[in-house]
Amino acid sequence: MRIVLVGFGVVGRSFAELIDREARKLELDYGLRLKIVGIADQKGAAVSDEGIDPRKALESKTEKGTLEGLGAEVYTRGMKAVELIREADAEVMIESTPTELKRGEPGLSHIKMAMQNGRHVICTNKGPLAIAMPALIELAHHNDVMFKFSGTVGGGTPVLDFAKKCLEGSEIRSISGILNGTSNFILSKMAAEGVAMADALAEAQRLGYAEADPTYDIGGFDTACKLVITSNYVMGSSLSIRDVDIRGITEVTQEDIAKAKAREGVIKLIGRVGSSAKVSPEVVSSTHPLNVSGTFNAVCFDTHPAGEITLVGKGAGGMETATAVLRDLIEIRRTFTR
Ligand code: HSE
Repeated sequence: MRIVLVGFGVVGRSFAELIDREARKLELDYGLRLKIVGIADQKGAAVSDEGIDPRKALESKTEKGTLEGLGAEVYTRGMKAVELIREADAEVMIESTPTELKRGEPGLSHIKMAMQNGRHVICTNKGPLAIAMPALIELAHHNDVMFKFSGTVGGGTPVLDFAKKCLEGSEIRSISGILNGTSNFILSKMAAEGVAMADALAEAQRLGYAEADPTYDIGGFDTACKLVITSNYVMGSSLSIRDVDIRGITEVTQEDIAKAKAREGVIKLIGRVGSSAKVSPEVVSSTHPLNVSGTFNAVCFDTHPAGEITLVGKGAGGMETATAVLRDLIEIRRTFTR
């Protein structure tokens, strides 16, 4: 399977590392022979019909900050991702550029270009989906390509497919949960160690959990994106981020945390969607299944007739999200070899 990787940040690089490490297993277990024929980052693009060695790409990025170490025949400084998507002979485009929530760009243009050129799309970038999910799904149908976005919600935890596939036959009445690993990491550190919010955020950034623009994490926007994506995918709504009432954790103080603790509770950033959609800090009982710490996400589906079902797992991190991309690739491969 020939792949173009657009975005070579934490997720793109983790994915390259994962497929390099697991190449033999992927071929044996899933018949998945992967070849990266193009990689684009903000500074330029590399393209090779024979395939790009993921190790060399990773080394170049670490040593030079660009892909120029792949050589002048392969790398062109200033080449735009849209050109690469149009020109490289690939079956799948993986979009992992940073989330941008005003226009969903440049991810939105990358996805449209890929679909219009008959490429399947795997997306970990939440911006295009938070802004234009119904239109993108329609475009995928129109061009007869698959559009997968498992890594947009839950990191490596299969929130979307769990709800879609494993809860088949049940009515999902509402969804609530912790959907942002960074803010949960921050709130957990503030509560357990008395760390200041800014310091905990700096650590989350260093560990690769936070968004390129971390105000998306602490301002509640990342949670809102994930709420929109989950609701649209699982409950059949047509929401965009503009439909969500959003309040983040920026005003949460040590005093608020102490007050919650006195009531045997913890403060968590919760996203809720049912008849309306909302993100805000809430006091959660310390014995509630949503009380998870660190970068864990916890999503509670209120189903009929089975009642509440909660899924817990790591919600942020490059390698975690890369495993979601891999699941999507395996599904694309299966669908097209049936
Ligand atoms: N910044 C996001 C989070 C990354 O902390 O949850 C995963 O989407």
